[in-house]
Amino acid sequence: MLAKSAEKLSRHDVSSDLSNRHLLILYGSQTGCAQDVAERISRQARRRHFKVRISSMDDYERANLINESLVIFICSTTGQGDEPSNMRKFWKYLLRKNLPNDILNQMKFAVFGLGDSSYVRYNWPAKKLFKRLLQLGAQSILPRGDGDDQHYLGIDGALDPWLKKLWEIIMENYPLAPNLEVLFRVEFVGQKFEENKEKINIREIYARLVKNERVTAHDHFQDVRHIELDIGDTELKYDPGDVAVIRPKNLPEDVDEFIKLMNWSDVADDTFILVPNDEDYKIPSHWESPLTLRKLFKDYLDIFSTPRRSFFEFLKFFVTNEDHIEKLKEFCSAEGQDDLYAYNQRVRRTIAEVLQDFSSAEIPLKYIVDMFPEIQPRQFSISSSSKVHQGQIHLTVAIVKYKTKLQKAREGVCTKWLSGLIPDECFIPITISRGTMTLPTSTSTPIILIGPGTGVSVMRAFLEERIFEGATENYLFFGCRNKDKDYYYEDQWKQYIDAGQLKVFAAFSRDQDKKVYVQDILKENAQLVWDIVHEREGYIYVSGRSDKMPTSVMDAFKYIFVSEGGMSEEDAEKYIKMLEMTRKYQQEVW
Ligand code: 2AM
Repeated sequence: MLAKSAEKLSRHDVSSDLSNRHLLILYGSQTGCAQDVAERISRQARRRHFKVRISSMDDYERANLINESLVIFICSTTGQGDEPSNMRKFWKYLLRKNLPNDILNQMKFAVFGLGDSSYVRYNWPAKKLFKRLLQLGAQSILPRGDGDDQHYLGIDGALDPWLKKLWEIIMENYPLAPNLEVLFRVEFVGQKFEENKEKINIREIYARLVKNERVTAHDHFQDVRHIELDIGDTELKYDPGDVAVIRPKNLPEDVDEFIKLMNWSDVADDTFILVPNDEDYKIPSHWESPLTLRKLFKDYLDIFSTPRRSFFEFLKFFVTNEDHIEKLKEFCSAEGQDDLYAYNQRVRRTIAEVLQDFSSAEIPLKYIVDMFPEIQPRQFSISSSSKVHQGQIHLTVAIVKYKTKLQKAREGVCTKWLSGLIPDECFIPITISRGTMTLPTSTSTPIILIGPGTGVSVMRAFLEERIFEGATENYLFFGCRNKDKDYYYEDQWKQYIDAGQLKVFAAFSRDQDKKVYVQDILKENAQLVWDIVHEREGYIYVSGRSDKMPTSVMDAFKYIFVSEGGMSEEDAEKYIKMLEMTRKYQQEVW
C-alpha cells in the first residue's frame, strides 16, 4: 500500500522553481496595526507560493529598491497626517530631488493606508507615497486601499475587499505553474492511526453540545436551531455581543464517498506526516500528526466550498482526458473567466462536484494540502449572557440550504454539520472572538434592538444581560414570516414583558397579504422611537442579513427624525452619522 502511495507521488514529481515569485512587503507602522496587516499579507502570499520578504520601510536596504519587481506597501498615519516613525528615513529618501523619474520603472506596486477619516489629513502618508511611487516610474497594480477606523468593521471594512482584488490581480499575473515546490512533503510512517481524543483537547477547546433544538415549526421552510454548549470546564469567557468561532468538520459518510470518487480507498488510512519544505510554512497548530487522508478530509480540508480559481489552475495539470484539459485551459484563460464564473460561482458548485465532472484527475497526494483549502471556521453571534447561563454558550443558527440551477440543494458546511450533532455525544471546537457591538454602560439608558430572523441572536444576549443587571428600558423589534412558525424565543420574551422588563414589536411578514417588515413597525412607532433616541439618548442596535434590511432600517430612522424631529433630510443624515460616531447606532450584519 505504501509503495502504491509512493508511486502515485512520483508520477508528478517535479522540480522546484520559485525564481519568479518574489514579493516584498514594506510597512510603516506606529502602533503595530500596519505591521499586523503586512504579516497577514505575507502569510497569504506564502500560501500562494511567493518568496516573501517583509520589513519596516526604514529597515529595508533602500539601494535595492530599483531591483524590486513587486512591492506591497502598508502604511499607517500618526499625529495630524504624519508618517509613522519607521517610515521616515525611507520617505525622505524617496523625496530626494536627484532621483531620476524612471528609477522605479521595474516595480509594480500596491499601497494600503490605515487611517481615520474623522481627521482632515486622512491617510496622507499612503496618499503621498502612492503619488510619489508613480512619479518615480513604478506601476500601480490596483487603486490605493484606504482603511478607516471609522468604518464599523474598522480597517477590515476596506482591507478585505482590497486584498481580494489584490490577489486576483497578482494571481492573474503570476499563475501557479506545475513545477512549484509544494508547501509540505508527505512522508509515510506506516503506523496504525488512532484518533486521539485527549490530544484534541490540548489543541483546541471543545465544548460539549447539550441542546440542539429546532425552534421553527416542522412545516416551516427554514430549520433554525437553538443550540446550547457546555463550556464549564474550559477557560472560555465572553461578554454580550461576542461571537463564537466554530470550526466545522465534514461528515464521515460524505468523506467516504469523496475518497471513493478520487480512487483513494486503498491509501485513505495510511498514516503520514507532513514536513514543511520551508521554515516559513507552518502546519496549522490544531492539526494532529500523524495524519491519514481520511482524517485530513474529515477534519481539516474543505471539499464542499466553491473552489477558487487557483484550484482550477492546479487541476489543469492533473487531468488526462483531452476534453478535460481543454476545458480547464479555457477556464484558466482571461477569456474563459465568464464561463468559469457561470460554471462555478454562480451555481455554487462544490469542489467535490467539480472533481466529479473532471473525473480523469489524478491528484498526487503531495499536492493535496496546497490545492484544497482549509475548512474555514464560521462565526455565530452568541445568543446568551454568561451571567444568566453560567458555563454555557447559546447559539441561534439557521441551517443553510438553498437551491441554485443545480439539481441538488446547496448546504452550508458548518450548519449541516451542526444540525446532525447529537446532544451529550458530540463536542464542538470553539473559540470566542470579540464582537463589534457593545452595550451602554448605564442600565438606565434605553436600548432599541432591531433583529429580524436570526439577527435576534445577539439581541437575546443583550436582553438577558441587561435584564439580569436590572434594566427595564428595553425595546425589541423582531421580524419573522409567521407568528406560529418562526417566532422563536416568544415564550422568553413573554416572561420579560410580564415582568415589565421588555416591550416587543413584531412584524410578521407573511401573516397577511401585504408584507410587514421591522422598518415598517419602527415607522409606526415613530413618536416612541424619537423619544427614546433623542430625548432619552438611547442606543440603537441592528443585526441581521445584509441585503436590504440594514439600509431600510436606517431609512426608517431618517424618516422618523424628519417627521418627529422636524429635521431636513440632510440634517437627519448628519444626525445618524453623529449617532454612529458616538456608538449610539451600532450594527452587525452578515
Ligand atoms: P420575507 O422572507 O417574508 O420577505 C426574517 O427573515 C424576516 O425578515 C422575514 O420576515 C423576512 O421576510 C424579513 N425580511 C426580508 N427582507 C427584508 C428586508 N429587506 N427588510 C426587512 N425585513 C426583511
